[in-house]
Amino acid sequence: MHTLIFGICIATILFAGHPATAYPLYDRADITVKHEWTQVPHNWELQGEAPSGHPINLRIGLKQGKLDELITTLYEVSDPFHARYGQHLTKEETEALVAPSEETFQAVHNWLAFHGVDISSIAYSPARDWLSLQLPLARVEAMLSTKYHAYQHVERRDTTIRTLSYSLPRALHDHIDVIHPTTLFGNMHDFRATSHITSSGATFDSIAASNGATVKGSAGQDIPISCNTTVTPACLQVLYRTDGYVPKAADKGNRIGIAGYLEQFVNFADLQTFFSMFRIDAVGANVTVISVDGGLNDQSTPGVEANLDTQYTEGLTFPTPNVYYTTPGTAPTINDSVTPPQRDEPYIDWLQFVLSHDDMPQTFTTSYGGDEQTFPIDFATRACNLFAQLGARGASVMFSSGDGGVGAGTCETNDGTNRTIFQPVFPATCPFVTGVGATFHIAPERGIDFSQGGFSVYFPRPAYQAAAVPPFLKNLGSTYAGLFNPAGRGVPDVSAQGEGFQVVVGGSVESVGGTSASSPTFAGIISLLNDFRISQGKPSLGFLNPLLYSVGLPAFTDITLGNNPGCGTPGFNATEGWDAITGLGTPDFVKFQEFLGKL
Ligand SMILES: *[C@@H]1O[C@H](CO)[C@@H](O)[C@H](O)[C@H]1NC(C)=O
Ligand SMILES: *[C@@H]1O[C@H](CO)[C@@H](O)[C@H](O)[C@H]1NC(C)=O
Ligand SMILES: *[C@@H]1O[C@H](CO)[C@@H](O)[C@H](O)[C@H]1NC(C)=O
Ligand SMILES: *[C@@H]1O[C@H](CO)[C@@H](O)[C@H](O)[C@H]1NC(C)=O
Ligand SMILES: *[C@@H]1O[C@H](CO)[C@@H](O)[C@H](O)[C@H]1NC(C)=O
Repeated sequence: MHTLIFGICIATILFAGHPATAYPLYDRADITVKHEWTQVPHNWELQGEAPSGHPINLRIGLKQGKLDELITTLYEVSDPFHARYGQHLTKEETEALVAPSEETFQAVHNWLAFHGVDISSIAYSPARDWLSLQLPLARVEAMLSTKYHAYQHVERRDTTIRTLSYSLPRALHDHIDVIHPTTLFGNMHDFRATSHITSSGATFDSIAASNGATVKGSAGQDIPISCNTTVTPACLQVLYRTDGYVPKAADKGNRIGIAGYLEQFVNFADLQTFFSMFRIDAVGANVTVISVDGGLNDQSTPGVEANLDTQYTEGLTFPTPNVYYTTPGTAPTINDSVTPPQRDEPYIDWLQFVLSHDDMPQTFTTSYGGDEQTFPIDFATRACNLFAQLGARGASVMFSSGDGGVGAGTCETNDGTNRTIFQPVFPATCPFVTGVGATFHIAPERGIDFSQGGFSVYFPRPAYQAAAVPPFLKNLGSTYAGLFNPAGRGVPDVSAQGEGFQVVVGGSVESVGGTSASSPTFAGIISLLNDFRISQGKPSLGFLNPLLYSVGLPAFTDITLGNNPGCGTPGFNATEGWDAITGLGTPDFVKFQEFLGKL
């Protein structure tokens, strides 16, 4: 092995008032792989060379200085038995915990300067834990000892420039968590499992359609029988007992945020039509659309996902202000004549955007995700830790658990061995978010077959699941041994209805299903609970899971019917207590209010 010889020698560099530092020599023998795939990710195929002049907007996630303290704080402020419960952090307090150490800055700046990077051209996130800089592809390839290629998605036909592996000097592994874009291929999709267009013009008001026929819900409430297969806001209000609750904190800053990606656009006319059919008192109310990183909201292409999400969050939470975030792109597209600007992976863009503001909605819902194994573990870990920041700042974050049962498709591993294993979905597998599975029917509600659930390979079982999950595993015995990681975080945490939602799209009503419907529903109920807390002068609920798995348990209706087939198996069964298809069950708003009133 030989030592790299540099032609250019930049003698000194000054930053942050620190003394000049000599550059280290980076020994080639010391350059080790940071992340690699052993094969081209599923659904992508090699297309050819990447243009060497292609500009890359490189983002470097630096090791966060006091991440352990952030996580400890998150659990303390989210634990109803802890003295710090509800004492959420400010933006500045959170940033102080994630700011990298001076040593990390030195090491990374030295490495960049060694590669001829103009340090003054670097942009920083507010906490200075992300660097971004624009560089030609060839320079990035030299820095990361790799070669990028163009890959095409076999179904969508979009093209992205990525690499199967990247490397860094060994000494930098302790200072850099992740570099993007490298090995993260865009595999995110939204979870609309089964949408079909029903005849337009018909009215789907369940209450009216039921002709007064009802069945008793688990709390003895009368639920219109039509809610069994046709779901409207009125059905959810009765089923989860939010009917009769009048939000009081809409002018005290309570808000709900809906994250949208993949060019899913909220249609304003459809929202009004929806209100006129299903939530007449909300006619004239609106959703505020916030563009992240140039995201659009084209009114000529209404999105089923975007309309489903916003019609149901607002249908449940009106008059609480609703905020829709539109974030573009999962991956850059190569354009032969004009190279468009590189777009970054949208979760991190969205998270950075929201975290950069002093105020944020107290409740969020996201109906997007992808098989956990398709996210490089360094990227997934970093994004997951950003969700921890949202929680520490007092936000509750819901994610759909996915629509593939225990796994969609062939369920083969992508580590080169091609074993079959169950495929949980990220970000629902991140322990700092609340994963929402799907149910259908009423009296009783059942877990629906597509409701995705299982156990994370990347994230170990968090302490809050220490009591709830082992009985499920014990009951399962050796069934499916080797197909999942019994020590992993279990998903979903909770569930809500996810089939037969009446959604207005392009002027007509469609019946839509998926955990895409469940996450906005559960989030809508949490937003009303935040309203209840805030109107009593109490802090928002923040990161929910430690609460849900402890004092929150009695506020759930346990779902004990259904299973979620996938990967050539019948999947897991809904059982008494927590299970890997419906989690703890579905919410009872009145019971939630009862115990929250005492906290
Ligand atoms: C709900 O619909 C299913 C399927 O049609 C049916 O088996 C069940 O009896 C219905 N439940 C009620 C309460 O009507
Ligand atoms: C909702 O907001 C959008 C964007 O500002 C606007 O175009 C639309 O007219 C508004 N709708 C109502 C009913 O106010
Ligand atoms: C490339 O960009 C040009 C100019 O913006 C546009 O006319 C063309 O349709 C684009 N081609 C592709 C394949 O996107
Ligand atoms: C695994 O599957 C990939 C893609 O289908 C294939 O290229 C590879 O040869 C397979 N590996 C093994 C060990 O079967
Ligand atoms: C699910 O329940 C059925 C019926 O009781 C049983 O035969 C099956 O073994 C159970 N499956 C699992 C994975 O527990």
